[in-house]
Amino acid sequence: MSSAVVIPAAGLGLRLGGETPKAFREVGGDSLLVHAVRGLKAATAADLSCFVVAVPAGAEEAVGKELEPYVGDARLLVVAGGAERPDSVRAALDVVPVDGIDCILVHDAARAFVPADVIERVVAAVRAGAQAVVPVVPVTDTIKRIGPNGEVVDTPDRSTLVAVQTPQGFAPEVLRRAHAAGAAIGVTDDAMMCERLGVTVQTVEGSPDAFKVTRPQDLLLAEALLAERRLR
Ligand code: CTP
Ligand code: MG
Repeated sequence: MSSAVVIPAAGLGLRLGGETPKAFREVGGDSLLVHAVRGLKAATAADLSCFVVAVPAGAEEAVGKELEPYVGDARLLVVAGGAERPDSVRAALDVVPVDGIDCILVHDAARAFVPADVIERVVAAVRAGAQAVVPVVPVTDTIKRIGPNGEVVDTPDRSTLVAVQTPQGFAPEVLRRAHAAGAAIGVTDDAMMCERLGVTVQTVEGSPDAFKVTRPQDLLLAEALLAERRLR
């Protein structure tokens, strides 16, 4: 048995700005997508035998050529993504092989620097029997719930809150069932689709390095992180 990873990389990166879609923006000479694939490949205990990447329509062939050198013996499939992230994940999930795969990861190309141990913890938890697994980190800000006019409604106890990262890991049947149920409106991650089915989602320790490149200042953070890793 081995695992597969679905990589949504079809977003425009509107909050980051610039001409190039976010997954193809370069940091330290490589695209975020290349960094992400390399990071997944480095997680040897995850046994990834298949990479499925969802990209902007029309970019499939070029991206396939660009990524091929980084996947080694694993299979690489590149599909056109959709209008929203769940559409892109679904398009990729549709071509993940059924046979021989005991864990499917879903990993944002934009979380390009996730450490191998986080990926391996997620896969290990799925293999230990969890149906859905998310890496989490403590929230550092105080979080408030607000009403329609911006007024504070309440302040949840911060010790019960976590921020969720990717890769998220799933028993293949559970992820397929969640996407087949189709209730993707307002959904921001795949675990949430499983929660809606009543599936228990387990947490494992994430990492600050698994941050999502979202805004321009995140590129500076990425450059700093790469520079620091090169010194190690
Ligand atoms: N994504 C995707 N298909 C979409 C939208 C997003 O595959 N229709 C992917 C992005 O490429 C990214 C991940 O989902 O790797 C997380 O999304 P996000 O950080 O929101 O990226 P973008 O949607 O590209 O950015 P923005 O929301 O700022 O436009
Ligand atoms: Mg987005």
